[in-house]
Amino acid sequence: MNVTELKPLFDFEMMGKTAVNGVNSPHANGLAGQDILSVDQFDRETLQYIFARAREMREMVHRFHGSDLLKGHVLACLFYEPSTRTSSSFIAAMERLGGSVIPITQGVQFSSVSKGETLGDTIRTLEQYADAIVLRHPEIGSAKEAASYANIPVLNAGDGPGEHPTQALLDLFTIREELGRVDGLKVAMVGDLRFGRTVHSLTKLLLQYDVKLRFVSPEMLRLPLKIMNEVIDKGVEVRETHDVADVIENADVLYVTRVQKERFSDLAQYEEVKNYYNITPELMQRAKEKMVVMHPLPRVGEIHPDVDKDPRAAYFRQVKNGMYIRMALLAAVLGKA
Ligand code: NCD
Repeated sequence: MNVTELKPLFDFEMMGKTAVNGVNSPHANGLAGQDILSVDQFDRETLQYIFARAREMREMVHRFHGSDLLKGHVLACLFYEPSTRTSSSFIAAMERLGGSVIPITQGVQFSSVSKGETLGDTIRTLEQYADAIVLRHPEIGSAKEAASYANIPVLNAGDGPGEHPTQALLDLFTIREELGRVDGLKVAMVGDLRFGRTVHSLTKLLLQYDVKLRFVSPEMLRLPLKIMNEVIDKGVEVRETHDVADVIENADVLYVTRVQKERFSDLAQYEEVKNYYNITPELMQRAKEKMVVMHPLPRVGEIHPDVDKDPRAAYFRQVKNGMYIRMALLAAVLGKA
């Protein structure tokens, strides 16, 4: 591909008003040089800006496959926990924008981390080579800690059972693109609400909208009190239940999650709850005609594979949105607004 052909991409007129507004928005520059640590840092205007950029990225990928917007930029991807989608979508996002990646993803066991190097030293090393760092780590607060060592943007790709802000952005974007709006929707979160960081981040992000929330989990896996209190303080209508049958008929979004086995200190407890839910085609017959089933993936039995054929099953479209959102975010934090 001839990259010079792609240069005018971000101002050609077919991108229309959204792109022009996006480029001129103060929010465009607000993200430059910023860490992405928690969803708390996004207001609705910034979200709209990111979504507008993600749509541009989608259009650009459809037309040209990639661009040279981040040519010469390097992203370090440091993953201390397993990942398929988050790591590969960050890599794809960076490479489609012409940048390159230092992938320490499935390989921390081959890096100096396995020799006992501290997070601080690893981060201080990577920032000598890279322009931004994506970090996934098993401890809550690790991304914040990493950001305190780095002078370049750190993007939190999951800090233990804490947050997963870039996933929440792509989840919210998926809801918006699938159903055309977020305000007025009833969102049901199903599964491991206690340890599921994607649930924590998405719940907090949804509090900026006029939504109704339903939390469906076994007793052991209820939403942490701290987040529930935030929901209540916002005055959002909320109910908790153990049974997905209680929410299936009225939900606009069914956000299903995996029981986070790796967070259990007692595996016998995991065994008790691991097969708690199974979304089946029979259950889906009772759901609204216009609704979506989402899942951050990986799934390990919560959604029957026969549901995949249902047009309301949005989880693989959700995966693709992750790349566009991460393209938009990388461009923004690297100052290419
Ligand atoms: C999630 C995660 O890692 O928190 N996966 C993802 O990033 N798409 C959810 C999970 O592992 O269950």
